Amino acid sequence: MSRIIAIDGPSGAGKSTIARELAKRIGFEYIDTGAFYRAGSLKLMQAGLTQSAQGEEANDAAIDSVLRDTRIEFTEGMVYLDGVAASTAIRTPQMGELTSRFSARKVVREHLIKMIRDCARGKEVVTEGRDTTTVIFPKAWRKFYVTASTEVRIRRRFKQLRDYHLDVDIRQAEMDVVKRDRRDSERELSPLAKAVDALVIDTSDKSIEESLEEILGLL
Ligand code: DC
Repeated sequence: MSRIIAIDGPSGAGKSTIARELAKRIGFEYIDTGAFYRAGSLKLMQAGLTQSAQGEEANDAAIDSVLRDTRIEFTEGMVYLDGVAASTAIRTPQMGELTSRFSARKVVREHLIKMIRDCARGKEVVTEGRDTTTVIFPKAWRKFYVTASTEVRIRRRFKQLRDYHLDVDIRQAEMDVVKRDRRDSERELSPLAKAVDALVIDTSDKSIEESLEEILGLL
């Protein structure tokens, strides 16, 4: 039987860590949907397609033809783009920016949503990312909206980028979180939003362990 636990919420709230750890504890697979969007955007960038902050953008047909020919897989915490491990390349702040811009495009979302649903089909999965509870898996078995104060999220993002061995300062982490929050919540298509039937978990003053216990209790 397919059972999906979907976790949504702003960046840096702890979604990924919580989802990964929760999956491990209850024996479900983990799917990071952001990694799909990042890998798809990496492929578009490699194909020479742009989506600049100044509004210069590739046309739908060009994006469609590249993504039609793209294979993204996610297994055991690793993302593969056309069979090649891409977990590190997709993590830079630049890729985060570009992904946030590309993922506002309908043509991009259509392809990525299909790839993510295919990946989850027939499995027991904990998945996380923007609009997993509202659009990708509206009928998920359980839904959570994991959030935290902006300040806490900036600090966590900074640590996360450092953990990826990226040479960033706290200001860059702040820009990363604040700018992407704004763009992700204001965009027309699938903006960041809490599903009406999602349970809210505020992790500002909680450790991962405490947040997990809260979720396990609710499950
Ligand atoms: O979760 P993340 O930081 O890896 O996500 C990178 C970008 O991808 C984020 O700015 C929005 C987009 N994204 C999305 O639009 N839908 C998802 N389900 C996951 C990510």
